[in-house]
Amino acid sequence: MKKRIWRFIGAATAAGLLLSFMNMMNPDSARSMDQHTWTDREKLVLRSLWLGSLDPLPVDPSNKYSDNPRAAALGKKLFFEDKFSGNQKVSCATCHREDYFFTDNLPQSHGMDITPRRSMPLIGVAYNSWFFWDGRTDSLWSQALGPIENKLEHGISRTMSAYIIGKYYRREYEEVFGALPDFMEDTFPQHARPALDDPEALKAWILMTPEQRAEVNRVYVNMGKAIGAFVRTILPEPSPFDIYVEQIVSGKPLKSRMALTDNEARGLRLFIGKAKCTNCHNGPLFTNGDFHNLGVPPKDEKKPDKGRAAAITQVLSSEFNCFGKYSDARSEQCLQLRFIETSEEKYTGAFKTPTLRNVTERPPYMHAGQFATVREVLEFYRSKAQNPELGHDKLTDEELDQLEAFLHALSSPLKSLQTDEK
Ligand code: HEC
Ligand code: HEC
Repeated sequence: MKKRIWRFIGAATAAGLLLSFMNMMNPDSARSMDQHTWTDREKLVLRSLWLGSLDPLPVDPSNKYSDNPRAAALGKKLFFEDKFSGNQKVSCATCHREDYFFTDNLPQSHGMDITPRRSMPLIGVAYNSWFFWDGRTDSLWSQALGPIENKLEHGISRTMSAYIIGKYYRREYEEVFGALPDFMEDTFPQHARPALDDPEALKAWILMTPEQRAEVNRVYVNMGKAIGAFVRTILPEPSPFDIYVEQIVSGKPLKSRMALTDNEARGLRLFIGKAKCTNCHNGPLFTNGDFHNLGVPPKDEKKPDKGRAAAITQVLSSEFNCFGKYSDARSEQCLQLRFIETSEEKYTGAFKTPTLRNVTERPPYMHAGQFATVREVLEFYRSKAQNPELGHDKLTDEELDQLEAFLHALSSPLKSLQTDEK
């Protein structure tokens, strides 16, 4: 018995011990003072947010290479490769930096030029159904193709990308996807792409034969599938919050006190309760994957960003969507496209709920970096209490402090595929 007492003293602070003693004697009076006591219902919510509840990576039927380790190893190299850009200086990692949790610390990203929106953290992104702030693609592989031909980002063509693959990555490519087509030896116009913003590039693309275009597309798509296989491996490790919940669910409330301070636990209580944050930031990645208009002030008042509303037709008409001929899925497997919600009214100005993992480590915030600090985000939420989607009660300064403290407890190192060969 003595031994056990000493272990407890080692594990808990004196204050914690006192509180749990009071709790034992009189649960009701201590309940309000002890931030670490949770009802069974609250425990269920905590468990649902815990990293331990994260399902295995979902299968992507549209990319049969998504769990192929060689494809992922190639994808990792392509992710960090500067050659796929107009100035040979931009890679995916320019805007998705490992040292900034795969974002870039800027309100709007800088590639070949400045993008209208903020870069997104790639933490656990494979669990999403839609990609980008507006969800204009339905897979990680088709997402990866967008930045390459975007003038503001990598600024090159799919034809050029296929050449670069042939010149620098032929062996690794062929090991995964089979022989590269012969056209690599030919001289297609390197700027050829089905571009709406560049008549010269479009003309060159149209002048190629349908077979040639299909061959270029095939290499381009495979490149996206390799990159998608790598991006899938970017996942969070347990944060102090996860360690806390692990102790709570395994019935060790005293040990849990070492993971979260009283203030952080108060913030957690608000987060799942009065502040209603879990209406949208739910599940182990703290996102429902859906789109909401919170009324974040637009970056450009004259040209407000329509968000999800403008993306619905884009994803439905994309040649690279789950229904398309480059997808490996049967159409009945394309559940999200089949059941897509198309209400323009609901989705005007709506953006994807971002994950809150590592959120305090990667300012600025919102889809165009409208807020410089988490505190500004919280002040914004407080001012928007009348928005029916939020509808939380009045929050005091002290409560904002507590919510902020809690958000700090969601940080952890990330893991992703380690480079095994150069
Ligand atoms: C110039 C900066 C820049 C470059 C280069 C860039 N990205 Fe992004 N990335 C962004 C921005 C900005 C967004 C959000 C864009 C939007 O919503 O319109 C984004 C969004 C994403 C998303 C969506 C995440 C989510 O939660 O939906 C993924 C995945 C991604 N990028 C991966 C990549 C890959 C892979 C590459 C390389 C092929 C790449 N990015 C190149 C800036 C960049
Ligand atoms: C109705 C759904 C909803 C609710 C409720 C909600 N959020 Fe959000 N949250 C979002 C969306 C959507 C965004 C992105 C909005 C944008 O960029 O326009 C966001 C963004 C954020 C961000 C910025 C993250 C980033 O990477 O930019 C933080 C921090 C945040 N929310 C915290 C909270 C907190 C704390 C609460 C509770 C007070 C809360 N949210 C309630 C949907 C919601």
